[in-house]
Amino acid sequence: MIEQAATDFEAVHGARPTGVWAAPGRVNLIGEHTDYNDGFVLPMALPHRVEVAARRRDDGRVRLYSAQGDGTIGDLALDGLAPGVVTGWAAYPAGVFWALAEAGHAVGGADLSFAGTVPTGAGLSSSAALECATAVALNDLYGLGLSAPQLALLAQRAENAFVGVPCGVMDQMASACCTDGAALFLDTRTLEQRHVPLDLEAAGFRLLVIDTRVKHDLGDGAYAALRAGCERAAGLLGLDALRDLPPAGLPAALERLPDDLARLVRHVVTENRRVTEAIEHLDGGRIAALGPILTAGHASLRDDFRVSCDETDLAVEAAVAAGALGARMTGGGFGGSVIALVGADGADRVAEAVRSAFRSAGHADPVAFTAVPSPGARRVA
Ligand code: GLA
Repeated sequence: MIEQAATDFEAVHGARPTGVWAAPGRVNLIGEHTDYNDGFVLPMALPHRVEVAARRRDDGRVRLYSAQGDGTIGDLALDGLAPGVVTGWAAYPAGVFWALAEAGHAVGGADLSFAGTVPTGAGLSSSAALECATAVALNDLYGLGLSAPQLALLAQRAENAFVGVPCGVMDQMASACCTDGAALFLDTRTLEQRHVPLDLEAAGFRLLVIDTRVKHDLGDGAYAALRAGCERAAGLLGLDALRDLPPAGLPAALERLPDDLARLVRHVVTENRRVTEAIEHLDGGRIAALGPILTAGHASLRDDFRVSCDETDLAVEAAVAAGALGARMTGGGFGGSVIALVGADGADRVAEAVRSAFRSAGHADPVAFTAVPSPGARRVA
């Protein structure tokens, strides 16, 4: 992989890169659609990552190539970058150049060559990985001295304002800040973070990731509508954000809201509670206790937030029926991936049960793999 980004770089740009940087995709263990409500999340980085071989240019141009692209080499002028100007995958790295410039950081051009293993449209944050790989490379190449959370915020700004997806900060924070062997407990209001050790293997468990291969697209308006609904509900309740509604205040708040907003609020408030419960269990070494929390989180996303789909529901049901301790969709929803917590000897059985349920229902074969908590964005060569 590192070889691919570097080899492509030489072929495309005709020189050796200065270095190679990498940023991972993520799964979120619990805390879905809470980040844009100032709430809590608990993601972990995947071993799957985007790598970028890079070197500075001094002529204000960005030349970029991706092994996953259509073979063309993009050539952009830094001073021409503006929201809406760049489309397709190149908008993500271009957005990072734009966000850095907008924030007053002196970045000239660069030659870049990307290669990656994060599946796209699978709810595993390939976009954040692309942004954070670019950000960490430019941070080093230009000696900007920005911290990992600062890079994550710039990457989120690129996605919000340049690409046009109103995402929260979870994915970029996970890709930039996660560490090997730990999940990231993040308060998305204060950005306070804690690395929570998660050695699933030593405890006799596996985290299975099942990509349903139903492509999700957060740019299609549904995500923005949910976010707007949450903000409207917070406004009606006189709150800065739904994070400020404690579980004890939920019944009274629900009575004040129309049903479509009440459902959203119930999900967000109970989901924040599920994150803090999950943390208590992890701190107490009770990994198996996460199972029912995951499954309850899925029910809330399915029935209240309504972002699951037939395939994610079926994957969760089949996984639990085959002995998973718990399972849920992960990420924004409308397709994408499911995670299942399984005993060490149950991973193959659960993956096979999901595959067979998909075949019986006439769905395409899902892709399953076991995930271990992996490091965040950094230089790798
Ligand atoms: C997407 C967004 C995140 C977050 C999740 C849902 O992954 O990019 O900011 O809102 O959906 O938890």
